[in-house]
Amino acid sequence: MSKFSDHNFANEKALIRVDFNVPLDKQTFAITDDTRMRATIPTIKKILGDGGSVILMSHLGRPKEGPEEKYSLKHIVVHLSELLGGAKVEFADDCIGQQASDKAATLKPGEVLLLENLRFYKQEEKGDEAFAEKLSKLGDVYVNDAFGTAHRAHASTAVIAKFFPGDKKMFGLVMEGEVSSAEKVLHKSEKPFTAIIGGAKVSDKILIIENLLERATDIIIGGGMAYTFYKAQGGNIGNSLCEEDRLDTAKELLKKAEAKGVCIHLPGDSIIADKFAADASVSSSLSNTIPDGWMGLDIGPMACDTFSKVIKASKTILWNGPMGVFEMEKFQHGTKTIAAAVVDATAHGAFSLVGGGDSVAAVNQFGYADKVSYVSTGGGAMLEYFEGKVLPGIAAINEQ
Ligand code: 3PG
Ligand code: MG
Repeated sequence: MSKFSDHNFANEKALIRVDFNVPLDKQTFAITDDTRMRATIPTIKKILGDGGSVILMSHLGRPKEGPEEKYSLKHIVVHLSELLGGAKVEFADDCIGQQASDKAATLKPGEVLLLENLRFYKQEEKGDEAFAEKLSKLGDVYVNDAFGTAHRAHASTAVIAKFFPGDKKMFGLVMEGEVSSAEKVLHKSEKPFTAIIGGAKVSDKILIIENLLERATDIIIGGGMAYTFYKAQGGNIGNSLCEEDRLDTAKELLKKAEAKGVCIHLPGDSIIADKFAADASVSSSLSNTIPDGWMGLDIGPMACDTFSKVIKASKTILWNGPMGVFEMEKFQHGTKTIAAAVVDATAHGAFSLVGGGDSVAAVNQFGYADKVSYVSTGGGAMLEYFEGKVLPGIAAINEQ
């Protein structure tokens, strides 16, 4: 493996796997969140600045049977060019085949080519070797900068690496930044280390909580998943979300935490609503005595207070998952308060990493993205990294 910043790309064609799986407006195909695209610009610019050329490949969405208009990467060409300061971006409407090879072959130093959605071929997700080899022929050097897709063992994210010699494959700057931030939290955390875990389901977060029990001093649990913990302890949670088949898991996690001396913080009170809607009637209640017909949709004022104190006293913070239904104004106070506490702790020297689609959307919405230490571009990938799994996109470059 070569180190990206040490590599001189002059006269080379760099084939970069990026994660341009960005949300598009259903009608206009306009990009509604370009975070992932913006993140890769320094990688692209470094290569162009060296006098190299860039071939970008990505997936978009989950197309089922070949090409689909709504999943075409042509929708992002204009914006990509803008992000690159007006540089011309060529587009190949097939990621392999004659047109792609011709366009790649005639690419000159300083030029950019974007390939059509890799997932228009089933071979991509199957990790097909022949398909990976065809892609590999387009570039002289392979750069994996798709952290968001690093948990997939696909042709372009993992298999392709074997077709490049050791000094012609490397991570890009997004991947390097993601991995060094995650490593800092997982293995070099200054204590107290608080993990804030939210979201709807306990089942999605069991593995990450188990792994964090080995590392964190405090785990704050918010969002819909908190009510499964309350129910498991015999509380009345009304109509709040609950995974009945995870009650034992929740109890187990609490027991393990106690045995390990990790402090689990559940939201003592909740903002409750009589329906899951922006115009619901709203009240507050202790989280273990929610009346029938009502559901907890955000953490309450007491929980905001307790959680903020824990966060502000922390030196390392990992945040994955919102505290409530922050998309609706009536239920965003908890997530906003927690975001503010993370920002405050960061300003006082803590290292804070925020990841996962919803928590990232929340810090963006509240204008806090540049006030935390690192915002991850990975959802599933970030979760799996923190579960302690080896991500195929990382292993393919590290281990060959
Ligand atoms: C994501 O957004 O999670 C990544 O781009 C990976 O996409 P996938 O979940 O469809 O594999
Ligand atoms: Mg995903």
